[in-house]
Amino acid sequence: MDELVATLRAARHVAVMTGAGASAESGIPTFRDAMSGLWSRFDALELATPEAFARDPALVWGWYEWRRMMALRAQPNAGHRAIAAMAAKVPRFTLITQNVDDLHERAGHDAVLHLHGSLHRPRCSVCALPHVSPPEIPAEPRNGRRLAPPACHRCGGPVRPGVVWFGEILLERTLRAAQLAAGECDVFFSVGTSSQVYPAAQLPQIAQHAGAVVVQVNPDRTALDDSARHNLRGQAGEILPRLVRAAWGDEATAAAS
Ligand code: OAD
Repeated sequence: MDELVATLRAARHVAVMTGAGASAESGIPTFRDAMSGLWSRFDALELATPEAFARDPALVWGWYEWRRMMALRAQPNAGHRAIAAMAAKVPRFTLITQNVDDLHERAGHDAVLHLHGSLHRPRCSVCALPHVSPPEIPAEPRNGRRLAPPACHRCGGPVRPGVVWFGEILLERTLRAAQLAAGECDVFFSVGTSSQVYPAAQLPQIAQHAGAVVVQVNPDRTALDDSARHNLRGQAGEILPRLVRAAWGDEATAAAS
């Protein structure tokens, strides 16, 4: 930890990429954790593809509304707050996330690169007009409950979730910004991701090839273990506050709590 603390204090640009594990301690299920993961309970091909939405819009919309309701009821955890504290302490900071919840924003970030979109930015599936979901938490659609998607105010087409589905390309502008940050930063954190989904999983490799110190925070091993300079084994909500406190003292974490 001492070497990493010194590196952090001297860093000009820190980039952090998070995955579902960063929101796990807020009660939001991850995708691939055995048993509790979404992909072990639901079929991604039934729910997270354009074909699935075309086939059964109510099933897909209901599932994402269930996930949006969970995100609305969740609170940022100590890991989110520690990342926000770090952002306030380094000269330049880039936050990249694969997550579609808004917990980083609610922890204080106003610029988040959502590589896989957001539950909070639905849009018309026909004319792409952004749709404003009702702010109140939707009636509790149970896992997989069918819920007819709203109709677009402009063209009447079915509104779709604002997330990137399997088989869809990522927003070019967002991906380019993430790749640029990975290539320019001094320290790249990969927090709470199984490092299995590309192009997100390529970002730590870009950072490492550009000479950055790559740090992984994860209770389990991932493919990144073999190349990360530091593998901090454990929960983000424990490790990150400890690291921020060691680098910048208690006031840093207090400011973010
Ligand atoms: P995964 O569910 O694949 O991986 C979650 C990772 O977080 C695992 O490696 C866990 O060990 C780790 N983890 C669990 N609890 C943690 C904690 N408290 N602190 C730190 N790490 C923890 O989720 P992602 O890697 O984010 O894509 O999945 C990537 C993409 O695959 C998602 O964005 C989604 C999914 O299909 C799309 O929706 C396009």
